[in-house]
Amino acid sequence: MTPTIDLARARAETPGTAHVAHLNNAGAALPPAPVLEAVASHLAREAAIGGYEAADEAAPRLEAVYGAIARLLNCAPDEIALVENATRAWDMAFYAMRFRPGDRILTARAEYASNVIAFLQVARRTGAVVEPIDDDADGALDPEALRVALRRPASLVAVTHVPTNGGLVNPAAEIGALCREAGVPFLLDACQSAGQLPLDVQAIGCDMLSATGRKFLRGPRGTGFLYVRRGMIEALEPPFLDLHAASWTGERDFSVRGDARRFENWESYVAGRLGLGAAVEYALALGISPIAARTTALAARLRAELAAIPGVSVHDKGSVRCGLVTFRVRGLASVAVRDALRAEAINVSVSTASYARWDLAVRGLADLVRASPHYYNDEAELGRLVAAVARLAKGRGDPA
Ligand SMILES: Cc1ncc(COP(=O)(O)O)c(C=O)c1O
Repeated sequence: MTPTIDLARARAETPGTAHVAHLNNAGAALPPAPVLEAVASHLAREAAIGGYEAADEAAPRLEAVYGAIARLLNCAPDEIALVENATRAWDMAFYAMRFRPGDRILTARAEYASNVIAFLQVARRTGAVVEPIDDDADGALDPEALRVALRRPASLVAVTHVPTNGGLVNPAAEIGALCREAGVPFLLDACQSAGQLPLDVQAIGCDMLSATGRKFLRGPRGTGFLYVRRGMIEALEPPFLDLHAASWTGERDFSVRGDARRFENWESYVAGRLGLGAAVEYALALGISPIAARTTALAARLRAELAAIPGVSVHDKGSVRCGLVTFRVRGLASVAVRDALRAEAINVSVSTASYARWDLAVRGLADLVRASPHYYNDEAELGRLVAAVARLAKGRGDPA
């Protein structure tokens, strides 16, 4: 029998559920008690005995964080780098690649804004060419279009698994298979999928994967990680090096370390790393499959209930969808909807077209409200959101 989530326990272990209907897990989730405890107790040790000394004391637990993430992704601990956030993780991989004029970077229409800005900067500097691959009829990256694009040489395929601005799940494993067949490196932005969907880098076939701690993994803010396949690590010279990523070996010599920690830097948020480790262990103990099943089901229910409200439109693309639900209330700015909900202790967030110019802007959507339930949310919280949105939408539906 497939295990299910013990909802009462999950909520009891999430102190924030006493205060707010937190439907902004794609922004930053409420952390569970073991994450709070890991962070707070380390900060207390730093205050009591000193930061370096507390890190030495925590060394085995810090080392175990790599092992936990490796289990989450089905890779080896030496293929993991711990960094400040998903953007920096992604950057360390992307900016380690060398591009020449005409090199093709293939990506998706619903790509994350920071990634696109990096593509455009590198294209401007080097003459590389950025090509968004067309969507299929449902709005996911079309594997057939990618197959055609890969008939010509390409230098990189970089795709976001779950975009920031909707419930779409891009077909990561199909993309990975095509990249392997073509011998093209594949960088997957798993920022929104880590902690809500199963991620197996062997099954997906990605060479690099970036993720953050604070979203569906429920870790602390200011934490993130990068996976780089062992066979690729040595080929990628990080854009920044320090005395942790490299060694000063001779008067005019240095050597870069051989594992994925070459993408890290020395000074770090030690308490945050321990909290990230606790968050990953917590998710693994519950099981990513039951987490995915419940989160996806809650989101599907929310989508259906919102869509049934006159004056509300739901905008998620893709035939496979996850825990992000995006909608608009006719005649109301999304920020106004978010603020009205926040006044009722219901947390959601807003995506604007400037976060997704190749997607939202093309679809003529200026902004969207994003509600993102997680497994620890209950049906009553969804009901509160739906009722509040119905009140805001009152009188805004089509005339009968
Ligand atoms: C798809 C995607 N990629 C990357 C990021 C950036 O993550 P971070 O803020 O941890 O750098 C986000 C954040 O919303 C995201 O949604």
